[in-house]
Amino acid sequence: MTHAEGFSELAVQLQEQRQEALHHGLELVGSAWRSFDQPRPAQPPISEHTLEIADAPLPGTGVGVPAALDVAAHILDESLAHARPRYFGYIGSSGLESAVLADALATSHDTNLAAESAAAYLVEQQALRWMAEYVGYPLGGGTFTSGGMQSNLTALMAARTRAFPLSRVDGLADAVPVLYASSDAHSSIERAVEVLGLGSGNLRRVPIDEHRRMDPRALSAMLDRDVDAGRVPVAVVATAGTTITGAVDPLAAIADVCADHGVWMHVDGAYGLPAAASSSAGLLFAGLDRADSASVDAHKWMFVPKACSVLLVRDQESLTRAFRHDASYMVEEEGYRHPVDGTLEYSRPFRSLKLWTAFRAHGADAFRDAIERNLLLARHLHGLASEHPRFEPLLPPPDLSIVPLRRIPSTGDVDAHNMRLARELQKDGRVYVTSAVIDGVACLRPCIVNYRTRTADVEAILDVADEVGAKIENA
Ligand SMILES: Cc1ncc(COP(=O)(O)O)c(C=O)c1O
Repeated sequence: MTHAEGFSELAVQLQEQRQEALHHGLELVGSAWRSFDQPRPAQPPISEHTLEIADAPLPGTGVGVPAALDVAAHILDESLAHARPRYFGYIGSSGLESAVLADALATSHDTNLAAESAAAYLVEQQALRWMAEYVGYPLGGGTFTSGGMQSNLTALMAARTRAFPLSRVDGLADAVPVLYASSDAHSSIERAVEVLGLGSGNLRRVPIDEHRRMDPRALSAMLDRDVDAGRVPVAVVATAGTTITGAVDPLAAIADVCADHGVWMHVDGAYGLPAAASSSAGLLFAGLDRADSASVDAHKWMFVPKACSVLLVRDQESLTRAFRHDASYMVEEEGYRHPVDGTLEYSRPFRSLKLWTAFRAHGADAFRDAIERNLLLARHLHGLASEHPRFEPLLPPPDLSIVPLRRIPSTGDVDAHNMRLARELQKDGRVYVTSAVIDGVACLRPCIVNYRTRTADVEAILDVADEVGAKIENA
């Protein structure tokens, strides 16, 4: 509409403010990036000002983009940023700068990958091929999703449809499905099983060995027992990098068991799979190429900002059989299928563009190097904790980049000390570490997946934890 047709410009349009808004937004992004180059001396507490902002009513009129962005930057400053080099909590990420810019471009165009998207579709397919090549998976198809949860759910929906071809229409009737995952598998597997109506009581927890890897002989025995009892195996989920300790299940031996029993093998590599491309950990992933499906989160160890996960499958038809609908408002020409027919989501952002741009900008070798450095830093931390008079690692040197460790106080309950230590460290803010309980033992569980993290950052974990731990002891 033009002025000539009687409409004035809308306030949501930037018009002459655009240049200023763009400049200001870039300034703020640049200053965030500069602040991530170095560790922060402390995490600022949530200020009174922020509490007021967060309590303000819906504004009727706006303050303009630069002023609104300033407030947004202020909120972010008082938020936890995974991008910081000393964020070691849960499984973080990095907000890779090249990928942030690509994401801004993608969201500006607001392309929807659910249906026809012209060139975007070609690039998404290429990004799938690149990811598969990077980790060593013989790609038949796949989809980008919002995260490991959704990739795992998508894979298990395909597995359910293979085990029970009529289940989308008829449900499971009297059949008893069974699924298998190690006792250390991520809770997204249990959640997916629940969402799919398979019943988490039917998710078998396979025992693990002393490295916390699934025991394939126990798996085989469990499968035999279930099949003899008339239950129907749906899938075995092997984890390639468990969330709690980073253990990689023995994929080749699990693939043998799955082949013997004709069961779908899914690899949950949401966290660990990028390490398949590294020279020092790559061998752990032997057998990946035999899986029916594999998840990998680009928003974890490929460093790109959330949300960006990849589900790789051996056979694209397995996804189509699980998800296709013929909607009369999305008519398909002969031989063409909308991407939405092979995935759970409908509207789907062009999230693959950030991974694709990052691969193009830096090359695959740069990712291998960054992951290799994280792996080295994890081993370094394990060595330091082993030698330290007041720390001990809970486990042998890590498969990947998670190093559960604990501080031993001079007196008192070690578990209680470490739980408190994690809380106090988070308040202190110099290093961000979360706690975990492994076989009833409380510990700190630093995870190193940030390309910005360096040796001094990792060494700071023990230095700061020892200082804060001593304060707790002396309080
Ligand atoms: C092994 C594993 N699978 C799945 C997930 C869930 O991933 P997301 O948070 O991207 O949904 C995680 C998250 O940490 C994970 O570690």
